Amino acid sequence: MTATTTSTAPAPHLREDLLTPRFYTTEIAKAARTNLDLQRPVFEAMLAEMEADYNREHFDRKAPLDRLRALAPDQKTAYESYLVRSCVSEFSGFLLFKELSRQLQKASRPELSRLFNLMARDEARHAGFLNRALVAEGIEIDLPSLSGKRPITWFPLNWVLYSVYLSEKIGYWRYILIDRHLKAHPENAFAPLFDFFEPWCQDENRHGDIFNMLIRCWPGLNRGLRGLLLSRFFLWSVFLTHSLTVCERGDFYRLLGMDPDRFDEEVMRQTNRTAARAFPVVFVLDGSRYFQLRDQLVDTYRQLKASAGQPLRQLGLRARFGWLLLQQFLQPMQPCTEVCA
Ligand SMILES: [Fe+2]
Ligand SMILES: [Fe+2]
Repeated sequence: MTATTTSTAPAPHLREDLLTPRFYTTEIAKAARTNLDLQRPVFEAMLAEMEADYNREHFDRKAPLDRLRALAPDQKTAYESYLVRSCVSEFSGFLLFKELSRQLQKASRPELSRLFNLMARDEARHAGFLNRALVAEGIEIDLPSLSGKRPITWFPLNWVLYSVYLSEKIGYWRYILIDRHLKAHPENAFAPLFDFFEPWCQDENRHGDIFNMLIRCWPGLNRGLRGLLLSRFFLWSVFLTHSLTVCERGDFYRLLGMDPDRFDEEVMRQTNRTAARAFPVVFVLDGSRYFQLRDQLVDTYRQLKASAGQPLRQLGLRARFGWLLLQQFLQPMQPCTEVCA
């Protein structure tokens, strides 16, 4: 059965809600003022690494991506929904990087433009690979037309730098933790796609390092009150989106033989630790109420989704959800020493 999207049909498994991957744009003129001189040696090293293109041969367009075993209908939905959302997020990265590359070229910043173009190259490969896994499932998504239909969210440059840094690093940890789990439990690797995750995650790691370098090109962005607020807000919001999404797609992780809650915690723990190399502060995750609040938020979110058509109950649940969000946002943070070096 083929579920091909037409110009009017939404992509399968892509309901519109807060957790749906979005498309972004930013302040291009400001991006064009990035002072690379502050990070020149790191910039040259990153550009050379991107030009070297270590994964050139990795994303083999001919590699068969057909599933290795049959899945029950709900398992199939879980897998396909994972593919659709991952594909749309990768494509969203591609669009942002491509647009930045195009505009920076126009703004006479050829080096920066080149760097974004190379990142766009990687994201196009990632999206293309996931798209091929979807085709193997009989699903075709018209990505360019999808981008034309979905609203584009505008973010100030600071926000893009913080949030893309974190999404690249969280992406790295997600791919590598799934890879490690499946290497330890190969009987759960039901699709050849998973065999590609290890070098794949290195691309995301490199992109994250590039964004760390870009943050450092803006003095003051990772210091003082601004640094504290940006770190707190973006760590919290990226972790929250992750927790709610993993809870919503819990079936997919169970299908891989993973416990979604433990996976979510480990991804947050590792990303938080990594972010200590870029941000002035990170959360204290162990020994605080952070994970306990995560459990309560996820639980309230489930109840909210189940209470459609009950306005009074929804009002109460929304108030509870808001109160939990505030408490989680205010959880203790610890200073990181590397950033101020
Ligand atoms: Fe990617
Ligand atoms: Fe990436």
